[in-house]
Amino acid sequence: MMSEKRTMLCVPVTARAEDQAFADIQSAKRANAGMIELRLDYLERSDAHMVCRLVEQARQAGGQTIATCRIAEEGGQWHGEETQRIALLVAAGEAGADYIDVEYHAWKRSAQLRQAIGRVCRVDTGAERPRCRLILSKHNFTETPANLDAIFAELRNEPAHVVKLACKANRITDALRMLDALRESARTGPAIGLSMGEAGVITRVLAGKVGGLLTFAALDTGKESAPGQPAIKQMRSLYRWDALRPDTRVYGVIGCPVAHSMSPAIMNAAFDAIGYDGVYLPLRVEPDYADFAAFIDGCLARPWLGLSGCSVTIPHKQNLLRYVAERAGHIEPLAARIGAANTLAIEPAPDDQGAAGFSPRGAPRDENATHHGKTARAEARGSLAAHNTDYRGAMDALCAGMERGPEGLRGLSAAVLGAGGASRAIVAGLIDAGCRVTIYNRTLAKAEQLAAEFGASALPWEARSAIQANVVVQCTSIGMWPNADETPLPTFDLPPTTVVFETIYNPMETRLLQQARDHNCRTVDGVAMFVGQAAAQFQRWTGQPAPTDLIRSIMLERLQH
Ligand code: ATR
Repeated sequence: MMSEKRTMLCVPVTARAEDQAFADIQSAKRANAGMIELRLDYLERSDAHMVCRLVEQARQAGGQTIATCRIAEEGGQWHGEETQRIALLVAAGEAGADYIDVEYHAWKRSAQLRQAIGRVCRVDTGAERPRCRLILSKHNFTETPANLDAIFAELRNEPAHVVKLACKANRITDALRMLDALRESARTGPAIGLSMGEAGVITRVLAGKVGGLLTFAALDTGKESAPGQPAIKQMRSLYRWDALRPDTRVYGVIGCPVAHSMSPAIMNAAFDAIGYDGVYLPLRVEPDYADFAAFIDGCLARPWLGLSGCSVTIPHKQNLLRYVAERAGHIEPLAARIGAANTLAIEPAPDDQGAAGFSPRGAPRDENATHHGKTARAEARGSLAAHNTDYRGAMDALCAGMERGPEGLRGLSAAVLGAGGASRAIVAGLIDAGCRVTIYNRTLAKAEQLAAEFGASALPWEARSAIQANVVVQCTSIGMWPNADETPLPTFDLPPTTVVFETIYNPMETRLLQQARDHNCRTVDGVAMFVGQAAAQFQRWTGQPAPTDLIRSIMLERLQH
């Protein structure tokens, strides 16, 4: 496990020419990689002498070295002769590579390979610590098969020192199964297990939690040797690799897609700033409720994972409320009233100090959630709670922008554009603060329904050209990237006394905000609301105030790219 032997960050060198490979090895050394994988199959021209020079360079770089010459049928670049491939791998082993990676299928079918590599790795002598160790690997680029344990066992059955399995995760529950299988295999010997693709990122970051020998990290974005592989600087600075411990709490943003979410950068930096033992990951969960429920059930059935909270975004906000209701968790009254939640908080039961499992009340036993005989205590339960932090984020942003407290909003008139999910939290907040609220929406019936629920008024979309209000809140998707030229108020005619509150944060400077500034109106941007809701989540999970200036500066930096 990680506490005994730390999982290493392994940088694959995928250069096409020797001089570039040298340069990449130096970069890997500067990035403090614990291991370097020389991907000999990427070299356009190679011979045994070149391989020796590369291994020598990699050894001088300090870390351990893996030599791999991946065949095309397992996703590699090698199309040459098998004899030549074997010669390169043998040369690498003799030059001092710490590991040679060979595909299981190639190992099984080629006696020549078994003999040559087996000799270098001294597999027949049973040497405890041979100078060069054999990694036997299997890859599946289309799916994650059901029987991962059996596959690991099959690999372990051969005289390999390390077993490695890499499969495409089509759903995030595939990644959970991979973590299970890696965790189990790592109990019997050195193992590598990872899921490829966006849904598999958790396996790459959490390999350390389950005792993986290594996790791969690209030298840079664009130099990945497999889909979903983070860059080493992302692993270190974004995912807090060096701070990760077996009992580090795990958080994440559930969405589809989530690859471009800013939340991991924001939350991990905020955890770092206060020294909180947590890591925050992108969690790609397919849109259906069944996928959402399977993922959270799966996490709860794996207490060692330490999932402690999630931000929930499009298209899962409704799924969160339904899930927490079905599992008899706690829905904060505000979230229930708004009819939307964006935050999941998970606490283990007080008597459940992490060793045993905690499972959601009424959750069906997930057949994916194998515990290898160490089943979670069925009676132990964690508490699940759904919260809405959009309300607080919006009201904090508005009050800060207007430089007054919530009591200062009493009696003001507010016009809300839109009647979707974002509007609900804002209408509730404005009504609670004592504002008179009018909702304008393209689909009038939705505005009327929302107005009836909260004691507001509704007007047709066309009536927005005659708005007279102290505060205008824009909650439609008009003007959102990439349609940054659009505005919900083409004929902007608001007096300078109006406060214009934009809820879109990408772009930060929407067309509507430009119009408002041109008319000398006071403005509140969407970044302020996003920071506010993120800060409220952070506080809910950690119990500590969020470093909001840091969060805002990270967001601005990201939005400017
Ligand atoms: P969110 O959760 O971000 O609020 P949503 O629930 O999809 O997203 O709501 C989008 C809002 O933008 C809705 O009020 C929608 O109007 P409809 O209810 O008529 O669909 C509004 N909207 C989106 N595109 C629009 C457009 N081109 N013109 C006017 N309103 C638009």
